[in-house]
Amino acid sequence: MRGIILAGGSATRLRPLTLVSSKQLLPVYDKPMIYYPLSLLIELGLREILVISTPEHRDQYERLLGDGGRLGIRLAYTVQDEPRGLGHALLLARSFIGDEKICLALGDNLFHGPALPERLSDALRRHRGCTLFSRKVTDPEQYGVATVDGHGRVVDLAEKPERPSSNLAVTGLYFYDNDALGKAAALKPSHRGELEITDLNRAYVREGRATLVELGDDGAWFDTGTPDSLLDAAQYIRMNQQTGARPIGSPEETAFRAGLISREELERHTRPDAPAPAGRRHGLLTEPRP
Ligand code: TTP
Repeated sequence: MRGIILAGGSATRLRPLTLVSSKQLLPVYDKPMIYYPLSLLIELGLREILVISTPEHRDQYERLLGDGGRLGIRLAYTVQDEPRGLGHALLLARSFIGDEKICLALGDNLFHGPALPERLSDALRRHRGCTLFSRKVTDPEQYGVATVDGHGRVVDLAEKPERPSSNLAVTGLYFYDNDALGKAAALKPSHRGELEITDLNRAYVREGRATLVELGDDGAWFDTGTPDSLLDAAQYIRMNQQTGARPIGSPEETAFRAGLISREELERHTRPDAPAPAGRRHGLLTEPRP
């Protein structure tokens, strides 16, 4: 399975923070936002991950994360020239995905909880077609909302419905089989001119091949796309990191626990004076781009 982190978009709800900065590079407490989905994908066992960003921020992502070698994984980068939707971004990953399955993570979604890794790994083992993850929310009209039958099969998906049929919000983590590429290619732009992920998911719902996994109430999920949710997420991380034994959303620590790097490498990479992963080796810090 190949991982994709979506770090493009226009992030209008976070302006002026995002007038020149990329949303997924903004801090969530003590780390750049993208560290959290990256750590989650490493924890899930993904070892080949593509980061899709806007053209103007691509170098910054590469400088921050490098080629993944220091985490024992492979990272690749591509750009989305304009924010034409999550379905469009998926199409940009075609050659990276090849014939593999897909784990798509939104770069501004943050998941955490004691039971979460087990729940996600279990969903990965059972995965067929399309697997979506939901959380119960009090304001479902702000989200994509799923209706399920007794077997967890999705029977309906609605985007920001005025009268939601359930309180199950669809979160920013998606597992797909390789058919998603063909389905994404067949999508038509929505009224806002985007290839919508909900339309892609609906194609699986129509075939009875979309499963919903409820994430339960013991963990947390943040869509950090607004100033309030960004602050809430930062406060959550601060509180839970202070009381917990391990840092949350540390790619290095996650790679160490997964046996991908040694303790010595972990210590070397997380020292306060450790250099950025790419930097001079790639010439990004010293050479202007052509
Ligand atoms: P959104 O939060 O839906 O959109 P946005 O980031 O442009 O923000 P706003 O609504 O405030 O203008 O995007 C969800 C995630 O998907 C986020 O990580 C950005 C990413 N994304 C892309 O990579 N490409 C796109 O075309 C879009 C729309 C979003």
